[in-house]
Amino acid sequence: MKSSDWFRDAVVYQLYLRSFYDSNGDGIGDLRGVIDKLEAITSLGVNTLWLSPFCASPNEDNGYDVSDYRSVAPELGTLADLEELLAKAHKKNLRVLMDFVVNHTSSQHPWFQDAKSSVNSRYRQWYYWSDGRPSDTHPHGGPPNNWDSYFGGSAWTQSEETGQWYLHHFLPSQPDLNWENPEVRQEMFSIARWWLEKGIDGFRLDAVHHLGKPLGLPDAPAHLKLKQFKNTRLTHAHLREFRKAVLEPWGAVAIGETGGTTPSTALLYTARQQELDAIFHFDQFFLPHPRAQDFLKNHERWYRKFSGQHAWDTAFFSNHDQGRHLSLWGDDRYLRRRSAQFFAAVLLTSWGTPFIYQGEELGLGNAGFKSPADFQDQASLRRYHEALEQGQDAELALAHLLMYGRDNARTPYSWSSAPQAGFTKGTAWLKPAYDYETINWERQQGDSDSVWEFYRKVIRLRQDNAALRHGKWVRWSHHPHIYAVQRGKGRNLVALVGNWSREFVTWNLPRSRGTQGNWVVLLSNYPASSSSVKAGKITLRPWEVYILTTV
Ligand code: NOJ
Repeated sequence: MKSSDWFRDAVVYQLYLRSFYDSNGDGIGDLRGVIDKLEAITSLGVNTLWLSPFCASPNEDNGYDVSDYRSVAPELGTLADLEELLAKAHKKNLRVLMDFVVNHTSSQHPWFQDAKSSVNSRYRQWYYWSDGRPSDTHPHGGPPNNWDSYFGGSAWTQSEETGQWYLHHFLPSQPDLNWENPEVRQEMFSIARWWLEKGIDGFRLDAVHHLGKPLGLPDAPAHLKLKQFKNTRLTHAHLREFRKAVLEPWGAVAIGETGGTTPSTALLYTARQQELDAIFHFDQFFLPHPRAQDFLKNHERWYRKFSGQHAWDTAFFSNHDQGRHLSLWGDDRYLRRRSAQFFAAVLLTSWGTPFIYQGEELGLGNAGFKSPADFQDQASLRRYHEALEQGQDAELALAHLLMYGRDNARTPYSWSSAPQAGFTKGTAWLKPAYDYETINWERQQGDSDSVWEFYRKVIRLRQDNAALRHGKWVRWSHHPHIYAVQRGKGRNLVALVGNWSREFVTWNLPRSRGTQGNWVVLLSNYPASSSSVKAGKITLRPWEVYILTTV
């Protein structure tokens, strides 16, 4: 049997294809663009790529609405481009994960087009259909239950053709597939095998926490803010089947996007890789104004539960669905470089496989958009308009959009100070980040103090150091501003000590087992820092971080 254990040594780079590099001037990033920039990716030191969805799609949700699972979207390239990318990536020891959109299709998918046409369609049972339910607000029948869509409004939409309602946890143009139907499962497994044959190394499974719906589709409990069911028993049953039928025989990796998990419920997915190799959970994004101690406590909670159970975790601070972490948690203005480097050190010394989201290695913050007109993302705009309709203060609603809107993280990659950030010769599909003339890839090459260079060094350190990948994780600090942890033990001990604040902070560094208790500095983020640090009282500058070892 092939193994997917390599994933535990991976450093993953998440690549948002539409915004990475446009090779043909149509304003949309493409696969050939990735091939052109492969050297730039590998020189950072990452060893795995996660490609955002690349199958044909009407792009109501940028590829998370697939209309043909066995194809490459024409605006992104051809199947031959993808095969070339896989071959070239593998030659460079770079593995490639595909974003597999399993919970729903596009409403333009031929299955749904057929399904909605008649109650007798051969594909009717591939989706969820139900009669409307009369209520005080809908005397002639409204949504069949109280479930909410993530992107605003009910999770049900009435179809004109038959008058029945269909289920969509996301946009109305993203109808949920019915995984209880064995035909659906067999077809999705066969699609997965098709891509594995092409050379894909594994999957990021989109919205997998919604695969299994509770029998009878009951109302969600009234106390839930977002009325939905997630992570049901059936979801686990489907994933176990997927593991046996697809992942195990191929030794393929699968990382599930599983909203709403706790460390205990997440174990059902990950313990002994019985279903998935790891999951994404989002606890860090629910910490209000997090500081060092919130983060440490959160990491500790997951580590404690997982590490004794042969389970593995992911570590990530940004992705294509959030505002950028530098703007949410760090300093994206005055101490941008130091705070971006601080987070790089925290991420790459975490327990669990780290995921770097494109652009964070440049120290990118939010896009600097000023108005809703700058946004393309339907989901963010729907939520914004819904907030206004519900009477929320207009300024607040706008501030929320500008800070958390998903396009903040989807701006075309800032390659250089050339027009359109050097991303395209045409006009980019989304405005580039406001600061691309100063914060860009080209400017950071050859600058030993750049954020990019710091990421490169800290990735290298992780790759060279088993303690950072597999060593035990121990929280060291209870100081409100100091993020300090120990990885590994004895002679293989590595410590991270950092100041998560814009103040000077004094802290008591424990003695090391080295000469006179001193520490050797493996990496630090202020230039001309010394090569060793004495145990005892140390003063850390704003966002200063050290990675230390004993000998
Ligand atoms: C999660 C993806 O990350 C997000 O971008 C997408 O909108 C939803 N799933 C729906 O597919």
